[in-house]
Amino acid sequence: MPVADRVEEVRKELTELVSAVPTAHELMQHMVKLLHDRMLKYNWVGFYMLEPGAKPPMLVLGAFEGAMTPHTRIPLNQGICGAAASSGQTVVVDDVGKDPRYLACSLETKSEIVVPIFVKGSVVGELDIDSHFSAAFTKEHQELVQYCAMLVGRKLEAAGK
Ligand code: SME
Repeated sequence: MPVADRVEEVRKELTELVSAVPTAHELMQHMVKLLHDRMLKYNWVGFYMLEPGAKPPMLVLGAFEGAMTPHTRIPLNQGICGAAASSGQTVVVDDVGKDPRYLACSLETKSEIVVPIFVKGSVVGELDIDSHFSAAFTKEHQELVQYCAMLVGRKLEAAGK
């Protein structure tokens, strides 16, 4: 199946998922599994959420699919994850070996995308995806992952978070 068709299909399933699950927590759990199972180059998929009230701010590992990572808590001044959360911008790294910010999770990882999640205009967490393939996160993938982050932000917001 061409990538564009798969992206379109998964996008539809994600949209259905949002109304099928009662909480943002369950949405995140199902979402990591769906993305990991269906998107062939998404080899690690996980959420990092900002710890409420933590000073200095801290990203804490939430729902994930893939091998356990040594990075369960990431300060905002570290890693690709810290860069995305502190800037509020999507970060795409085509070759993690060339990015000095990169915190290694698996030796097989070649590329990574991190998309911030917003609630009422503030970053509350992010969706992080690693691939064993270099430059895996082309424009259509960036749009899919940004769509996922938007759905989670909206669900959190609807719950009054
Ligand atoms: N690579 C990330 C750390 C998280 S692991 O990929 C799961 C980073 O550089 O922030």
